Amino acid sequence: MYFVKLIIGKFREIIVKCKLYLSLLLFLTPILFFACSRNDEAEPYEPTPYIINIPYGFPTNLNIPEDNPMTVEGVELGRYLFYDGRMSGRTHPDSLMSCATCHMQANSFECGVDHPVFTGGFTFGLSGTPTHHVMLPLINLVWNATGLLWNGKISKDNPDLHYQKLEDLVWMGVVAKHEMSGDTNRTKALIKSIPGYPEMFRKAFGTDEVTMDRISKAVAQFVRTLISSDCKFDKYMRGEYQLTPEELRGFVLFTTEEGADCFHCHGGFGNPLFTTNLFYNNGKDIEFTDPNDRFSITGRSSDKGAYKATTLRNIRFTGPYMHDGRFATLEEVIEFYSHHLQNSPYINPLMHHVANNGVQLTPSEKADLMAFIETLRDETFLTNPAFSRPDNLPGEK
Ligand code: HEC
Ligand code: HEC
Repeated sequence: MYFVKLIIGKFREIIVKCKLYLSLLLFLTPILFFACSRNDEAEPYEPTPYIINIPYGFPTNLNIPEDNPMTVEGVELGRYLFYDGRMSGRTHPDSLMSCATCHMQANSFECGVDHPVFTGGFTFGLSGTPTHHVMLPLINLVWNATGLLWNGKISKDNPDLHYQKLEDLVWMGVVAKHEMSGDTNRTKALIKSIPGYPEMFRKAFGTDEVTMDRISKAVAQFVRTLISSDCKFDKYMRGEYQLTPEELRGFVLFTTEEGADCFHCHGGFGNPLFTTNLFYNNGKDIEFTDPNDRFSITGRSSDKGAYKATTLRNIRFTGPYMHDGRFATLEEVIEFYSHHLQNSPYINPLMHHVANNGVQLTPSEKADLMAFIETLRDETFLTNPAFSRPDNLPGEK
């Protein structure tokens, strides 16, 4: 009898245990199921797309590489890095250098004539080595598909994969002797060690890994947002401003062959970028010795002494002028095009008036042309808070 009771007792015990396990299982299953299914369905992290609103009358073909789509978080990170002197890979106050050390917003992201350290328009890197040419502004580069730098070295036509895109200029800026004169491993390690940055990399790229590739992509995204589309001339085109008679006469001179004949290379009507982004020899010299001209890139003799026809937007702020900074003022530039062209076998055929030494403007025509060029001044661009230095960089007090 006792034996039977014992068996029944054990049996009950087993049933109770089973019930316990069963209810535990019943209780846990939905939780487990929920947790697993949530994991399965979790969307991969996607940063927020950054939409460029194409300004009125501007071209719609933007030059954004497929492997670096613009995102709000990427642009934000890029803005911080653009202004961070620790991009040089160093922390000593005397050895900080960022893109913004030379590319300053107040001067249309150029260094500007008045900057005492950059006398003559040439800039000097951390090692004291001067740059090959004077500065170029960072303005409307999202529309540039022909080549960056005065000679267009950075372009998709460059067979060397390291010199094709805006992204490539970022690491070049870090290593070049005439810029930050650093090394990418040091920059990468330093940026990674600064509290705040890894988190921003995660938001921009999905993980907090800091690589030179990501640094370059983020800075390039920020540079592509630097758009100027709010000068007086833009407002005129949008019907928000009426050009004065003087400005209008200057516009006609600018855009006619028998006038000042500037538009073939610097755009104008139908080309609000005020550059074709192409390369020309505009008749400054008879001998060409610069080893970094357009010819050094293409090897075509017609490119001897040729450089990029820069945009004339905000041109007032980006002197001294030409790739070698030979003209201190815009007045001198107009004098040159008017009376001092130099003929050579390499001068571009679009310099139609070279036989007369230039377009021969009268003093009042020069004043009109200057008044028109002044309508390309875009104060909104120079003061846009979205382009300015963030209040606090990561790790700063
Ligand atoms: C030491 C000063 C200096 C620093 C620092 C510097 N730049 Fe420049 N940058 C220049 C000069 C000078 C040029 C024109 C060089 C040439 O064409 O020969 C230039 C040209 C450029 C251009 C080409 C613009 C065009 O219209 O073709 C881009 C883009 C650019 N820089 C981006 C950057 C970025 C991004 C950084 C930071 C990673 C940076 N630069 C740091 C001096 C500097
Ligand atoms: C055949 C093409 C061509 C024509 C026509 C032309 N330019 Fe230029 N312009 C250029 C090129 C190329 C450069 C850069 C040359 C260099 O740096 O050596 C330049 C440079 C300039 C610069 C200095 C830009 C800078 O960033 O330093 C100004 C200002 C300028 N041109 C205004 C004018 C005006 C005004 C006219 C009409 C009177 C005109 N250009 C006609 C091709 C042209």
